[in-house]
Amino acid sequence: MINFDYLKLNIYQIYPKSFYDSNGDGIGDIKGIIDKLDYLKDLGINAIWICPIYKSPQDDNGYDIEDYYDIDPMYGTLDDFKSLVSELHRREMYLIMDFVGNHTSTKSKWFIESRKKEENKYSNFYYWFDSPLPINSIFGGSAFEYDTEKEKYYLHSFAITQADLNWDNEDVRSEMKKVIAYWVNLGVDGFRCDVIDLISKDLKENRIGNGPNLHKYIRELFSSFNVFTVGECGSRDIEEIKAKIAKERCELSTLFQFDHFDVTRITKFKRGNPKLYEYRNVLSKWCSTFQDNDLIYTLFTDNHDQSFMISRLGSSDYYFESATCIASMTYLLRGIPFIYQGIEYGAVNSKFNELSDFNDIESINYYNERIKKVSKEEAIEELNFGSRDNPRHPFSWDDSFNSGFSKGDPWLKISTSYKEINLKNDLSKDKSIYRFYQKILNLRRLDAFTIGEFKDLSVDDTIFIFERFYDNDKYLVICNFEDISALEINYDNYEIVLSNYNRDELPKKLSPYEVLVLKKVK
Ligand code: GLC
Ligand code: CA
Repeated sequence: MINFDYLKLNIYQIYPKSFYDSNGDGIGDIKGIIDKLDYLKDLGINAIWICPIYKSPQDDNGYDIEDYYDIDPMYGTLDDFKSLVSELHRREMYLIMDFVGNHTSTKSKWFIESRKKEENKYSNFYYWFDSPLPINSIFGGSAFEYDTEKEKYYLHSFAITQADLNWDNEDVRSEMKKVIAYWVNLGVDGFRCDVIDLISKDLKENRIGNGPNLHKYIRELFSSFNVFTVGECGSRDIEEIKAKIAKERCELSTLFQFDHFDVTRITKFKRGNPKLYEYRNVLSKWCSTFQDNDLIYTLFTDNHDQSFMISRLGSSDYYFESATCIASMTYLLRGIPFIYQGIEYGAVNSKFNELSDFNDIESINYYNERIKKVSKEEAIEELNFGSRDNPRHPFSWDDSFNSGFSKGDPWLKISTSYKEINLKNDLSKDKSIYRFYQKILNLRRLDAFTIGEFKDLSVDDTIFIFERFYDNDKYLVICNFEDISALEINYDNYEIVLSNYNRDELPKKLSPYEVLVLKKVK
């Protein structure tokens, strides 16, 4: 059985480079996170997931780890990390670290040894071939790179400087268990497992993921630790995913999948004409049909790899209403909420004109390929729509110098909308997105919204209506889509507990993106 306490987590995802810079070097850091823990606690957060802060050359912003046992000096020291753990635990908050097991930086000591010609303990830590296989890297180009020292090709599913570890080698697996043990000993409560379905491969079939030993390797890795685990799993096969995380198999506590992102665009870099009901249908499917006693689902609208959801699915005319509608449709469902930094004040995509304004390796590789086919303007427009830099721009705390993020030169440009869209400005308004999130997270303290059941009562493509209930407590969540709709059912026995139009009484018609949360009183 799964651990239902996990449904009581309200997790906040921190992109550490861009959250808060405490020492003015332009880079967010651990002390900066500590400074903002009370802020997060006030929002209603009880756990944080921090993207990788291990020692790294930063070719993929920390997802290229050089040393699994050390904190990168730009974020602080191991002592700062220990303070973070105790400051969190003192506030009854949990810490989830990123675990990047599929690959290391080519600067890692393991890789440096592995590429040597003479045999050593690390020789088979990576995948070495005499000739490249016909596999493409997820960041573009061939997934194989020739190494002049070893005179062989190594596999890199991502950037050239991110070499894939060979998990079929037992020594790699035992090193990884040591890594987990080390951080658990330092007080880490959970792990977000980066591209975990890639750790077992089927290279005979040219497949870099979902290999025959995936379940075995995950089980081996975590079975001796009592930690929360969330796996990033691109796989669309529900039965496979369920099997992957079933608790009796000691695999993962929960997982991220991305079906609901697919309906919000044509491709990652191409705008579509998304419909809220399509987004609803995916979430509803996952929350009702697929979620049962073997599976807890994750609820998230945004993360560090996607441009902001509100810039794809929201409306600029109804900015507050659509942001709060998307939040309610997502975070009042059954599952574990992950709130990405910035969405609580309605952060949106930026608009830049030059490639030099971008930092992300995926975006730059994409641009360089794309420019062979379309104009520069078009390629930049696509980056503005889809680039992973969007959610990575420094957090806009206020409208002062560098959006209140740093006194120094920020590592990445501040958001182009920061003068208007920032936390301080949001808090000064009656229609505050932050305060709406606070109310949603407050509702999530109730059993009805955490362990309670979910039932989709929607009848057409204009509204999402669902029930959440536990024992005698029953709530109805009504999220109207973009057009005005009639509220046809009789809700006499209900009282309003949350409204994004400040209603005291039930309206006859619902306004665009209107949200009503009703509690059954009789
Ligand atoms: C995951 C991370 C992403 C990273 C990639 C390679 O998808 O979320 O940021 O680039 O893995 O580690
Ligand atoms: Ca800093």
